[in-house]
Order: sequence, then C-alpha cells, then structure tokens
Amino acid sequence: MRHDLDYIFRPRSVAVIGASRREDSVGGQLLRNLFRFEFNGPVFPINPKAKVVHSTKCYPSVLDVPDEIDLAVIVVPKQLVPKMIDDCGKKGVKGIVMITAGFREVGPKGIEAEEKLIKKIRKYGMRMVGPNCFGVINTDPDVRLNATFATALPLPGKIGFLSQSGALGEAILDHASQLNLGLSMFVSVGNKADVAGNDLLEYWKDDPQTELILLYLESFGDPRRFTMLARSIVQQKPIIVVKAGRTEAGARAASSHTGALAGLDVAAEALLDQCGVLRVRSMEELFDVSEAFANQPIPKGQRVAIVTNAGGPGILAADACVSLGLDLPPFNPKTITTLRKFSNPEASYSNPMDMVSGAGSEQYRKTLKAVLQDNNVDAVIVIFVPPITIDPVGVAQAIIAASQNSFNKPILCCFMSAADERSGIKDLKRNRLPVYLFPESAALALSAMVKYGKFRERKTGKIGEFKVKKKKAETIFTRALRERREYLTEKEVVDVLEAYGIPFPKAEIANTYDEALERAEKLEFPVALKIVSPEVIHKSDIGGVVLDIRNEAELIRGIKQIVDATKPIKKKLGEFQIMIQEMITGGKETILGMIQDPKFGPLIMFGMGGIYVETFKDVNFRIHPITDIEALEMVKTLKSFPLLKGVRGEKPVAFDVIAEMLQRVSQLVSDFNAIQEMDVNPFIAFPEREKCTAVDGRIRIRLDS
Ligand SMILES: Nc1ncnc2c1ncn2[C@@H]1O[C@H](COP(=O)(O)OP(=O)(O)O)[C@@H](O)[C@H]1O
Ligand SMILES: [Mg+2]
Repeated sequence: MRHDLDYIFRPRSVAVIGASRREDSVGGQLLRNLFRFEFNGPVFPINPKAKVVHSTKCYPSVLDVPDEIDLAVIVVPKQLVPKMIDDCGKKGVKGIVMITAGFREVGPKGIEAEEKLIKKIRKYGMRMVGPNCFGVINTDPDVRLNATFATALPLPGKIGFLSQSGALGEAILDHASQLNLGLSMFVSVGNKADVAGNDLLEYWKDDPQTELILLYLESFGDPRRFTMLARSIVQQKPIIVVKAGRTEAGARAASSHTGALAGLDVAAEALLDQCGVLRVRSMEELFDVSEAFANQPIPKGQRVAIVTNAGGPGILAADACVSLGLDLPPFNPKTITTLRKFSNPEASYSNPMDMVSGAGSEQYRKTLKAVLQDNNVDAVIVIFVPPITIDPVGVAQAIIAASQNSFNKPILCCFMSAADERSGIKDLKRNRLPVYLFPESAALALSAMVKYGKFRERKTGKIGEFKVKKKKAETIFTRALRERREYLTEKEVVDVLEAYGIPFPKAEIANTYDEALERAEKLEFPVALKIVSPEVIHKSDIGGVVLDIRNEAELIRGIKQIVDATKPIKKKLGEFQIMIQEMITGGKETILGMIQDPKFGPLIMFGMGGIYVETFKDVNFRIHPITDIEALEMVKTLKSFPLLKGVRGEKPVAFDVIAEMLQRVSQLVSDFNAIQEMDVNPFIAFPEREKCTAVDGRIRIRLDS
C-alpha cells in the first residue's frame, strides 16, 4: 500500500507544469534541479510554447504525456492553476506541489481562490503541498527528488526539515550544506492548504531515513493532533522547533491573574514543553542544536567536562552550562593523577580543565582520553583558542583521534577562529564533531541534548481522578448560567472549590454591622474582613481587605475601613456584604489558575501567589489535562521553588498537596467547560497537609457555553 504522501515524496514520475528554458525563471531552475539531483524516474516538462526544454521533449499538457504521472509540480501564473489542476485530475495525477503564489497570503480574493483550489484537490483525491511554497526534496537514494528552485544542492542525511516560510528555504538549504548537515527530506509547506505540519510529522514518524525533525513554524494548525503525534515521535526522534511569531490567541479579555499572566505565547510554549519538543529561539540556535543531535550521541546525564587551552572561554562555557542547568563535576581523583603525568605544571585540574596556552595536540589527545574515561563525566566541551605556535589542524586531528574512543559520550568543539582551510574545523566536521565559534553555543546545544535525554526517560504519569461532589458544582454553574451571571459569587466559588476538594477556612457573610458582630462570634479571632460585591474583582486593590482583626473594637474599625473604601463606588453596607474569614497565619502564598485558550483549550497555571503575583510573574503553564507528574513538575520548575522548599531552616511545604490541588483544578475544568478562567489566589501552602488552604478564589464563566 502506498501512503498518499508517497505520490509527492516518492513519486515514480514528475511533470513540471510551467517548465521553462529560461535559467533565471523558477520553472527553469526547478526543472534543472530535478535533472541535477538525478531524479530516479522520468521527468516531463509541460509548456505549450516549447517543443524541447533542457534537451528533453516538452508536452503542451499533462494529457499529452503517454506515461503515468505521480507528481505534478506547478509553477504557472495563478489564473492558469484551476485549468492545470483539472488536467491533472483527468490524467490521474495524485500528488501536487503548488509553487504558484497569490492565494491566502494576498487577502480575501486569494482566500477565495485557495478555497476553490482545495475543493478541486479533494474532488480529484489528490494531496497537495503549497500553494505559495518553495518545493520539496527527498534525498533517499531510491528517489533523489529535488523539486525546489534552490541553487544549493542538498546533502543526503537524516534530518527531516519543514519550513513554513518559503523565503527561508534557500537560506536553510544553503546553510545546512555549509554545516555539513544532511537532509532526508525538506518541505516548504507554504500556505498549508492541504498538507500541513502534522501530516508530515505522521509521515516522518515511520520514515526510517528521518532520525531528527526540524520545524520552522509560524502557527499551529491543530494543536491536539500535534500533541498526540509529537509525544509519540520524540520517544524515537528528537523534534526541534523554531516557533516564530505569536499564537493567534488574540487579545484575551483577562480579568483574572491567570489571564493577565498568560502571555500570547505561553500556550505554544507549554504545549511544546509537555510533548518533549525542543524549542529554540532562532534559526541560528536551530542549526547549532541540530549539528549536535545529527552527529553526536545523547548524553546519559548532565555532567559536563570542559577542556580548554584558555581560561576566559573556559569560564564562559562553565557559566553558560550552569545557567542552562548542566553540572560541572570535579574529576575523579584517578583522572587527576593521570592528568598530572603530562600536563603543564600551571594547568588546573578542576573543571574546566585549563591546559593553558602551550597545550598542543598531544595534550589535547591525552587530556580528552582521560576525561572521557572519567565516570563523573557524561559529555565534553573542548575549546581551542589558536595560539600562533600551535597547529590547529594537529589539534583537530588529536580531538578526532580521542573521539574514536568516546564511551558513547558526546563531544562538542569550540574553535574560536575563522573557519578557513588551516583551522582544522573542516576536519572536525567531516568526522562528525560539531564545531562552534563561541562556547555559549556549544553549551546551549549540549543542554538541548540533555533535556531531550531526560524527557525520553521521563514517565508521563496519569491523570488523577478524585472523589468530588460534581452535582453540587453543577447546580451552581447551571444557576449562574441561567441568571446570565459572568462571575460566580464569593460563596459560590467557595462551594464549587470545596466540592472539588480545595479547602477554604471557615467564613461568615454579613449585611450589617450587627450581623457582622454576631457572626464574628461564631469564629475565633483573629479574622480577616473582605468586601463581597460583584463589581469588585481584586478586593485589596480598593482597600477591601482588612487582615488580622483581633477583637471586637478592631472588627468595628475594620468594617468602617471597608465601608469608607467603597465610597468611590458609591455604595453602603447592605448593598454590598462583608465576609469574615478565619485568619491564616504563616505559610507560603501560591496561585492555582486556569484560562481558556481559543486554540489550545484550557491552560492550567501554578505560581507564587498573593497580591504580588503580577509583579513577580513567576508562573508555569501546562495544557489541560495535566498528569500527576506534570502537576508536580509545575511546582518544582518554578523559579521560586527554593522558597517553597524552605530557606534558612524552614521546612518544605507539602508539594504533593499543591500538585493534588492542581489536578483537582484540572478535573473541575474537565467537568465544566463553562469555566472561562479562574484563580485560586492565594492558596496558602504549609509543610502540613491539613493546614494547606485557599483563602480566595474567582471563577468566570462563558455565558455562550
Ligand atoms: N483569611 C486570610 N488569612 C490570611 N491572609 C489572608 C486571608 N485572606 C486574605 N489574606 C491576604 O490578603 C490578600 C488579599 O486577599 P484576597 O482575599 O486574596 O483578596 P483579593 O485577591 O481580591 O485582593 C491575600 O493575598 C492574602 O495575602
Ligand atoms: Mg486574591
């Protein structure tokens, strides 16, 4: 059985519709590329105005071609496209690469034309890459298809490269060749009218030639399908993404902290993270990281040895490694004994191992050999700053020799010199040793490999199911929806959250002073007072929260304070209410939250909470639903995690309780898709499970749900 994309990527024959004799035209270059790359099947130029193109018989239409055609590459002006597709349809062509532009990307008229085009494609049961694309390549020796108009010829290799930008195509192919990076396939997807990123992921998943997948994306088509595919692919093949631009999440009407903190890109970021897809910030980083993945093994751990002949770059490398979460362990005493035998007396035997500038090729070889043997070391970055007295080619050869016996540990080189013939850099690359100009690039590439290695070993965990009172919450949501209230009341929020096992302290609600005094007696001092009013979203913003009330006198003063604070919104007690809540002392304030992303669905948030949450912005997002392991990760990867772990002799808070609360939020979100956004802020965490409690929450619903 042939895969439907085989007609595009493994065609048995290709027609170029719009083939041209002019070398400077797209049609001319494309046809020539098919010949230059020695496509394994017949090529049929189609052009009614020529009899022969590039010494090859040319046909007026595909219908005149006597043989079968699998793939038609179309480079005609856009007004001719519909007719060409009809011809292809009649001919039984199953694959189309539409280079022609002037569709969706040019506005309403183009969108209409693209919709008509895609209807035709479907009608004829074809698959199409493009329109508005740069073409496709398959370097498989059985295929040898170069249906692009690039000038650089691609090197065969194991990278599947997808680019959403056609304009970048030429630059990508050119740069990949320069870096000695071989491609299995290259696809410029253009407007993705039919074949989209996910189709290619699926295709590459089972393609034995493709061992590493690189994506240049500007948008996500179907995030859910991407998630499913990516999760399973990364178990075998790394996926590295440059995600340009922003998600189309658009402006969110954010009235929660979670909404305010969910930047436009967090959904994409969270999604990639959860799937184990590596994200880099630029094309430069993409190539840096790919060079490492394409040529070196994945390290078993995060312990790096740095070997250098200059102090400065060694320190830069060390700083970069540490800031990226890698470790620089001291060497094994045995290694140090070995190193002492041949090193310069001024050398340092700590990590970075500075061999000082006199170090030549022999020192590089022996030092690397010793360090690679060290069982404290998972990977090596070797730095060379060329002094006039040392021959760089000799050093490169020494590194190559040492790399023959690497114990399957990755070696990344940093040669701080121009890459000319005498730099040794070409030799290193030919021997599959990635070379960087600056140590930070090497560190970044290595950290990406470490991250990937960890992800592959990581368990995904399971989605928890807690015993909850769903009916009770349902009644509340139904009522609010019926009354068309966008926000649940304070009381309803507490009821819903408690129904889902998120605890709140004891509280009473009062309409008058007397009621307040009377109800406060039911609670023990100290208490907290809060305004309860549908207009007030963030209570402390208007002075609507008074804390640590210790007696009746303070209670009266506190209520007055809140009444005064509400003057600007012209209300008196009775029109709003006062909540008297048990005061919680101590603990660490955190925030649990959720916001709907129009494309990615609900996002779950955890961070440092309280009234400063939007100042510190220390939060983590994950795409709902979250597993137990993901929930714990959300806690443990927070920048302020050390605060939760406790400083200066403090006990750590109960992380497992927080993780459980996040999963409970996730379950609530699963059960009620009417929730638009919610905050539990603060959720006050303590070392003791029973003390952990929320004291404030907010739930906004979608009235159109
Ligand atoms: N019962 C309580 N015990 C201890 N501190 C509280 C209590 N209620 C509120 N606080 C503190 O006051 C801050 C603001 O109160 P909160 O109820 O969250 O109102 P809002 O977020 O609407 O301003 C909280 O972040 C917390 O620091
Ligand atoms: Mg709050």
